[in-house]
Amino acid sequence: MRPKIAAGNWKMNGTQSALDELDALAGMLPGGSTQVVICPPAPLLIPAVARAGGIAIGAQDCHAAEKGAHTGDISAAMVADSGATHVILGHSERRVDHGESDADVSAKVDAAWAAGLTAILCLGESEADRVAGRTLDVIGAQLAGSLPDAARTENTVVAYEPIWAIGTGKVPTLEQIIEVHDFLRAALIDRFGAEMGDAIPLLYGGSVKADNAATIFEAENVDGALVGGASLKASDFAPIVAALAVS
Ligand code: PGA
Repeated sequence: MRPKIAAGNWKMNGTQSALDELDALAGMLPGGSTQVVICPPAPLLIPAVARAGGIAIGAQDCHAAEKGAHTGDISAAMVADSGATHVILGHSERRVDHGESDADVSAKVDAAWAAGLTAILCLGESEADRVAGRTLDVIGAQLAGSLPDAARTENTVVAYEPIWAIGTGKVPTLEQIIEVHDFLRAALIDRFGAEMGDAIPLLYGGSVKADNAATIFEAENVDGALVGGASLKASDFAPIVAALAVS
């Protein structure tokens, strides 16, 4: 049985007052074994950990190097030292806005693991890739290039996030989601063997909302969601967590 994971990516949203939403969310969770991870902006990591209750806290990025002259960056060890347990890596907004390559992302994932963090590795095709019929090629290449060989079940989560679905309200059909998630599952099994390949959780991300979550969670190889906009308010995110818990 793979864990069910509902992860919220606050992106560059929220000052300290946003932590009230964390308190509210903690009070709305369904209980059971569904894992909830909130990834606030870096300045909120430490106060978020202090107020998180049963919610895990994650960062949205880390540098590949242990330390040094990298103004504005944070290391994986700093993220772990804050009490956070997860880090999102390879999000398309990092790949596009900051020119991160698969090799860059792979190095960051290794750094995250070395610091004891769980990496939430994001993969996703552009609209042009999808229209050109290149989706599985792109996803396969990103998985091969940005997930290091040292992956372990306990510290690896893969999130499929079609770029054209992020923040747009456009959601792939269930068939499209199933196609990619089944492809990812097969690729993981092919690379890491049946036991481990079957145990790594696969999240879907891109315009997940309370009203489409239950349908998305019907897919066998969707083990949860990575949610942006609808994770900012507890009243929007809690129903998504609830839908996952009963899926
Ligand atoms: P969205 O973002 O839910 O706002 O589409 C998802 C993500 O980028 O992780």
